[in-house]
Amino acid sequence: MDILAQIDKDKLPQHVAIIMDGNGRWAKKQGLLRAAGHKKGTRAVREAVECAAELGIKHLTLYAFSTENWNRPKAEVDTLMKLLVSSLKKEIATLQDNDVVLGTIGAINTLPDKAQRELEEVISKTQNNKGLKLTLALSYGSREEIVKTVQEICIKVKNNLLSPAEIDEDCVNSHLYTANMPDVDLLIRTSGEQRVSNFLLWQIAYAEFYFTDILWPDFRKHHLHDAIYNYQKRERRFGKTSEQIK
Ligand code: IPE
Ligand code: IPE
Ligand code: MG
Repeated sequence: MDILAQIDKDKLPQHVAIIMDGNGRWAKKQGLLRAAGHKKGTRAVREAVECAAELGIKHLTLYAFSTENWNRPKAEVDTLMKLLVSSLKKEIATLQDNDVVLGTIGAINTLPDKAQRELEEVISKTQNNKGLKLTLALSYGSREEIVKTVQEICIKVKNNLLSPAEIDEDCVNSHLYTANMPDVDLLIRTSGEQRVSNFLLWQIAYAEFYFTDILWPDFRKHHLHDAIYNYQKRERRFGKTSEQIK
């Protein structure tokens, strides 16, 4: 049953992040090569983006390629990078139709030139849109992000632009890739794995986790509806007591 009618539009998570996992296992189950699973996964990306835009969610962050994914066989990495370029070309219309602003987090300068150029183009074409902020995590690793943050802050301290006493949570936040984004409210991972895999470690400090056995290529709008409905049934206490929240 689709749960859409029961979603409270006034209690939406501001920031939904998804670890899109299970492409390889999906392909294996069908007797196909892993690349076919990645290709099928692009439809699920489109569904998730459209669904988030339709609901009025402000931020959707998708884990598309981790720093650790560089260690996969070169042929698979090449496939993923080519798929990124072709999907950006193909989906620009979907982004425009849904008023989506595209952004990225991660070590973008490590991506192939072609991918960097295509990203720049779509980012610039969508920069004046007013709707959903879609962020692709590409060559993203949370520890790498934190190390980068520490380095940048140290340089500022060394150059007397910042004193150690001024380093607070806001300061750290403002040096992360996610500087202008709210914390993650809802973290979804598909494929049954229950781990974080170096994704947004700082930003998920108080996120609600939702794990589903659905493999990413099978993920559809109603699965996102289910996750949000489930999220809305929870009580987020942020350390307080239940009585204080009510
Ligand atoms: C997620 O699917 C896509 C990426 C990590 C790029 P996987 O490729 O990890 O699929 P499984 O986990 O092997 O099934
Ligand atoms: C995490 O998935 C990275 C992305 C979804 C892009 P992986 O499949 O690479 O993670 P592990 O290896 O299962 O932790
Ligand atoms: Mg995986």
